[in-house]
Amino acid sequence: MKNAFLFLRRYIQCLLGAVYFFLGGVLRKKHRPLLYGLSLHFGFEKDEKDPNAKPDPTVPGISEKELIGDDVAIDLTRIVPLGGNISVEELAVISALVKSRKPQVCFEIGTFDGRTTENIARNQPAGGRCYTLDLPPPDEGKSLDTGLRLATGDDTYILKDKSGARISGTAEGGGRIAQLYGDSAKFDFSPYEGKIDLMFVDGSHSHEYVLADSETAWKAVRPGGLILWHDYDSRWWPGVTRALNELQRTNRFATLRHIRGTALCVMVRP
Ligand SMILES: C[S@@+](CC[C@H](N)C(=O)[O-])C[C@H]1O[C@@H](n2cnc3c(N)ncnc32)[C@H](O)[C@@H]1O
Repeated sequence: MKNAFLFLRRYIQCLLGAVYFFLGGVLRKKHRPLLYGLSLHFGFEKDEKDPNAKPDPTVPGISEKELIGDDVAIDLTRIVPLGGNISVEELAVISALVKSRKPQVCFEIGTFDGRTTENIARNQPAGGRCYTLDLPPPDEGKSLDTGLRLATGDDTYILKDKSGARISGTAEGGGRIAQLYGDSAKFDFSPYEGKIDLMFVDGSHSHEYVLADSETAWKAVRPGGLILWHDYDSRWWPGVTRALNELQRTNRFATLRHIRGTALCVMVRP
């Protein structure tokens, strides 16, 4: 009975959403990836010339087991993902990497609600510090003014009431976190250069931003440190896949790997 009610509620919500979508909602930038997804679902052939087409993933894969083994105990909180969060499995993989590699200083580009930030901080060793940078929403009546082009749909995660809403007040979670605000294309990363043990690149999903944020990560992460990216091979964010495919073909990022079964990529900074 409960399932039937949920189904009906979801059905009606989708029906009303579809009416809105096809009567003009599709013109809003944030809804456009849905048109792309629907067209693929209903058999529309991928057009490689379309900048929104999902590129084939070419980054070589690595298994979770190769990366984290099978014996890392982690501390997880804020388990349930909200739209915009990484999956529970991805959260566990990142937490296990933090737990096993013991990074003292972490840096995340793209705070959103702070769910990943909180879990990184909880798995850091005592005395660890976790910086997280977010683009603040524009002032009332102003439009987003970023250094580079954002991806269609990025605004869904930028325009929110509060960055880091799921960051706790606990000493071993929120207490290790420093929230920073700014555009990753304009932010002054010079104080962090060569000092970061683990960096998570999860800000704007445009091709331009992923390239620029990866360059930032290259400079900020010390040799032997870890760089992680999210949204690889996602149908919604073709710019991320294109950028990481391109980077992996360069000498500096040649050891970049896609963590199979997830949308995460990883590289130990040579
Ligand atoms: C998909 S969400 C990040 C999700 C989060 N890392 C997590 O694991 O739950 C993307 C975030 O990047 C931020 N962002 C987008 N463009 C940015 C930019 N140019 N500079 C800094 N942050 C940016 C958005 O405000 C948003 O909070």
